[in-house]
Amino acid sequence: MQNLKFIFAYIKYYLTSRTRYTIHSPFLFELISDVFENHQDYIDYSRVESLKKELLKDDRKIQMLDLGAGSLTNKSNEKSVKQTANNSSKPAKYGRLLYRLSAYFKPKAILELGTSLGLSSAYMALGSPSTEVITVEGCPDIASLAKENFAKLGLNNINIITGNFDHELPGILKSVSDLELIFIDGNHRKEPTINYFKQCLSVAVNETVIIFDDIHWSKEMEDAWDYIKHHPSVTLSVDIYFMGFVFFRKELTRQHFIIRF
Ligand SMILES: C[S@@+](CC[C@H](N)C(=O)[O-])C[C@H]1O[C@@H](n2cnc3c(N)ncnc32)[C@H](O)[C@@H]1O
Repeated sequence: MQNLKFIFAYIKYYLTSRTRYTIHSPFLFELISDVFENHQDYIDYSRVESLKKELLKDDRKIQMLDLGAGSLTNKSNEKSVKQTANNSSKPAKYGRLLYRLSAYFKPKAILELGTSLGLSSAYMALGSPSTEVITVEGCPDIASLAKENFAKLGLNNINIITGNFDHELPGILKSVSDLELIFIDGNHRKEPTINYFKQCLSVAVNETVIIFDDIHWSKEMEDAWDYIKHHPSVTLSVDIYFMGFVFFRKELTRQHFIIRF
């Protein structure tokens, strides 16, 4: 049933989505041309994707600590690294998009909620090597594997914090300024997602973009996304089905877009 809803929601998305040729906002047109529809093959992609290939063969067992909405398919407490790499990391095209966003905006600081094995953190860190990426992961076994992965990739601009988003977020928001890119990819439930959004909003600057993963994953996430994109402070929202982006730039005229990606 869940799968069927997902398929219908995707068909609706596909039929209503737009390409850059029907977009009039110069900011969005440029963003789509340079980032969303940029098909250049950057050498950095292969660094993360070779690591992912290795992880997909890794039989080591991890003790899972699920502090979020969890997986729809696997509720067991023990998983292999390869299962985790398979279930929680997204297809390369989304990681590559995060890389290009990071490279395009060169945010002063990046925050990610939901590290898992660190693949999305790595894409963002490689996209803008001079930006500090703060990433939070609740499961200690997964967090230590992510650290191992950052070391393998030679990344020293990532600071991983092991802990529950609910406990760690207020302290991070107090101590880090100029968070210009925030990626929320964990605890996919309505109230926590809205709560993280509101907390991040309190420190958002004009240039901040907040990205939500899996906005159509469940009814709760659809409701959260609906609340977020209609929040009065959001001047532009972009829905690419598996991810949603919200911008707060005051110079933009308030608009919501569904973009084919
Ligand atoms: C979908 S995965 C992240 C995938 C990763 N961003 C990527 O694309 O490579 C979500 C992660 O968030 C973590 N998580 C979920 N809820 C959490 C919470 N409340 N506090 C801390 N971590 C949480 C899970 O343990 C899981 O590893």
